[in-house]
Amino acid sequence: MSTASTPPIDATTTPAWADLTAHEAALSPDLRTWFAQDPGRAGRLTFDAADLHVDLSKNLVTDETLALLVRLADDVDLVGRRDAMFRGDHINVTEDRAVLHTALRRPSGATPELVVDGQDVDADVHAELAKVYAFADKVRSGEWKGITGERVRTVVNIGIGGSDLGPVMAYEALLPYKAEDLDVRFVSNIDPTDVAEKTAGLDPRTTLFIVASKTFGTLETLTNARLARDWLWTELAAVEALADDADDAARAEAVGKHFVAVSTALDKVAAFGIDPANAFGFWDWVGGRYSVDSAIGTSLAIAIGPARFEEFLAGFHAIDEHFRTTPIAQNVPALMGLLNVWNVNFLGAHTHAVLPYAQYLHRFPAYLQQLTMESNGKSVRWDGSPVTTETGEVFWGEPGTNGQHAFYQLIHQGTRLIPADFIAVANPAHPLTDDAAGSDAPVDVHSLFLANFFAQTKALAFGKTADEVRAEGTAEDLVSARVFSGNRPTTSILAPALTPSVLGQLIALYEHITFVQGVVWGIDSFDQWGVELGKKLANEIAPAVAGDAAALAEQDPSTQALIGWYLDQRS
Ligand code: F6P
Repeated sequence: MSTASTPPIDATTTPAWADLTAHEAALSPDLRTWFAQDPGRAGRLTFDAADLHVDLSKNLVTDETLALLVRLADDVDLVGRRDAMFRGDHINVTEDRAVLHTALRRPSGATPELVVDGQDVDADVHAELAKVYAFADKVRSGEWKGITGERVRTVVNIGIGGSDLGPVMAYEALLPYKAEDLDVRFVSNIDPTDVAEKTAGLDPRTTLFIVASKTFGTLETLTNARLARDWLWTELAAVEALADDADDAARAEAVGKHFVAVSTALDKVAAFGIDPANAFGFWDWVGGRYSVDSAIGTSLAIAIGPARFEEFLAGFHAIDEHFRTTPIAQNVPALMGLLNVWNVNFLGAHTHAVLPYAQYLHRFPAYLQQLTMESNGKSVRWDGSPVTTETGEVFWGEPGTNGQHAFYQLIHQGTRLIPADFIAVANPAHPLTDDAAGSDAPVDVHSLFLANFFAQTKALAFGKTADEVRAEGTAEDLVSARVFSGNRPTTSILAPALTPSVLGQLIALYEHITFVQGVVWGIDSFDQWGVELGKKLANEIAPAVAGDAAALAEQDPSTQALIGWYLDQRS
């Protein structure tokens, strides 16, 4: 049985790794031939997990590759580590914490009961969810009133990283499910432009701020929360809802009606002036980037309502159960994580594109950047020893078809191998037809859109040979420029529609993919020490930027010169 303190198994010393190395050396990927000679390939390498239909067949793998990757999972005890996570072992070793985001979406009454470090996890999760839902219902029904007795029309979520990216991504993805009379805006950046732009045009009487911060100590969020509080007081005074010289009690009353908080540090919430009765909690065993399904999703719960939020959670849980119970050889998150290892460590990929053919998923790649890169961008393993192979590929992407007209050139014909995940849904929220497209029948625009998805994955896999280019009558000196090598790996992920459940499924899928890669590399995917140094230095440098000559003199020559130039420019 794997325990939290079990030292990582060095994947590179396992028999499976050696066999994969030999296998790769002997492999000449040739998707054209592989498909031509093996009519069952597509069917055999396509898997279903809950509503997700996932085709892995256009990856540069054979059955033997997959079998070896499954053996690698066995050699590094992926199943043991997975079970340790679900059980609540402290697999976040460097912070000595359990990793239990999967508990956030366990249905009430799930068995066996989950008691971790003496905490009845299920009871606490459901009690907090009930609070969030009751609050969401009050805001949605208009029962929650601002200081002038008016109902809330705009919710402004103030948070950053996991306290922003998940909620904003999910809100944008689920816009068709949003209450029509409520909007949500998201402030994250400490660039004052962000709060200025996001509060512009808002009526303070109908605006509710949610300060979302796991630690309630994040510079950006607390600064923005103070700016928002000042904005509230100023704008309420401007509409004569608060006296210009309102005393502390009147101002506190306004904050009480227009600010709530989400945090694991409820003492700090109170110190900010937000009534703990208006605060929603979660626990240190939820990583920030794994928290959209906790109270951090309060803005989303308000927007789509508790029933839809429950569907969202049920989607996560469906994939959790798939990941927890399916043999690795058919386990979609496990296979996708192992494929990423194959691409990074054996085929030399440095990046991974995520290309949603769904406009509502336009923030999904940005969300995944934190999930994957804050989790697996590490150079040491969970016991502090150096990693033994490359880790943490760069995740990036844009919605199709916009990306096609921007960076696909490099994916098709560049010198680098860029594995790509293509994501689409069968049924659009807006089934529009183009009646004047010039064809006999109206054109279903979503089908036209998806024709691009299928065309791109096909072109990437099978390319275009020089002979095919010549057969089109291309002049010989232009042939090489028009050849597509093919053999560019893609995974196709299809779902029936972008419902709350499907969105939860997609998020959980990538959470577990990330986990699988972390286990193979032996790293703690749940800490993020790499963000600390910059934060500390920003605090140290702030006095220099504010004009403190002594603090400026302590900086290195480049930083000094840059700050000096900046100070000269400030009018
Ligand atoms: O700086 C990185 C980070 O700690 C993320 O992991 C986290 O999601 C984000 O900052 C915000 O943290 P908090 O929710 O505590 O404000």
